[in-house]
Amino acid sequence: MKNFILNNGVVIPAVGFGTYKAAEGGTHDVLRAALRAGYRHFDTAAFYGNETEIGAACRESGIPREELFLTTKVWKTELGYEKTMRSFEASQRQLGMDYVDLFLIHWPKAEPGDTEWFPAVSRSWEAMEELYRAGRVRAIGVSNFLPHHLLPLLNVAEIPPAVNQIEFHPGYMQKTVVDFCRSREILPMAWSPIGRARMLEEPAILAIAASHGKTPAQICIRFALDCGVLPLPKSSEETRMRQNLDVFDFCLTEEELSVLMTLPQLGWSGEHPDRARVPAE
Ligand code: A2P
Repeated sequence: MKNFILNNGVVIPAVGFGTYKAAEGGTHDVLRAALRAGYRHFDTAAFYGNETEIGAACRESGIPREELFLTTKVWKTELGYEKTMRSFEASQRQLGMDYVDLFLIHWPKAEPGDTEWFPAVSRSWEAMEELYRAGRVRAIGVSNFLPHHLLPLLNVAEIPPAVNQIEFHPGYMQKTVVDFCRSREILPMAWSPIGRARMLEEPAILAIAASHGKTPAQICIRFALDCGVLPLPKSSEETRMRQNLDVFDFCLTEEELSVLMTLPQLGWSGEHPDRARVPAE
C-alpha cells in the first residue's frame, strides 16, 4: 500500500475504506472483509453509528494498532468546544482505541443558511488542537469545507488542518477546492470517489478502463490518486474491495486525465455545505 504524508509528517495509507452504512444491522462482516482485503485505513464518523463495530473488527483482526489508520468526525450539530470534546470522548470510547489517527469536523455548519457559523467551528477547532497536543489524535482536519470556510479557520488556527475531505469523482471534482487545499498543504480526500457507482456506465470512463484492462471503479480511484486526492471508496463485497485497492500498477495519461477532468457535471450527491440538499433526480 502506498501512502500520503500529512502536513505534520503523519503517514496515511493512500486508499481508505469508506464505512458509511458498512455496519448496517449491527454486524461487522463488511469491516472484517475489508480488513481481509487489505484495508488498513478506515473512515468513519460519529454520524455513521458504526464506531463500535469498526473498533471490534480491528481488535478482532489482531492487526497491530500502529498498522491501522482510523478517522472519525464530529457531527455538524455538535460544534463548539464542549460538544466537540464530548463527541470525541464518545467516539474514542466506542472505537475502544487509545488514540484516533485523524479527527475531522464533518460539515462547517449545522444549517445551510447559518451566517454565524464560524464561532462554533473556531471553538471546535480549539478542542481539536487540545486533543492533538494531548496526543489523543495524531492529526486534525475538516470535511466539506470550501475555500471560504477554510480561510477564516486558517486565520485563527494554531495548528492548520491536515486534510479536507470532500465529495470528489469524475463529473464532480471541485477543482477550486482541491487547488486551494493543495496550495495550503491540506491533503484533499475524496468521499464517494466512484460517485456512488454512478460513474460506472459513463462511456468516457468505460473507454479508458478498457484501454488499461481495468474496471471503471479502478479508473475513478486512480483518477483521485493522480489528482493528489486520497480516495475513500465504499463497497459491501470483498472482490470489489480488493479491486479498489488494486490501482497501483498503472497511471492515467495526461490525455485521459484531461478527458476525466472535463466531463460535464455528473453524479453529484446533491450535498453542499451552504445549501439544502438537492434531491436526486
Ligand atoms: P457494492 O457495495 O455492491 O460494491 P462510492 O464509494 O463512490 O460512494 O461508491 C459506492 C458504491 O459503488 C456502492 O454502491 C458499491 O457497491 C459500488 N462499488 C464499489 N466498488 C465497486 C467496484 N469495484 N465495481 C462496481 N461497483 C463498485
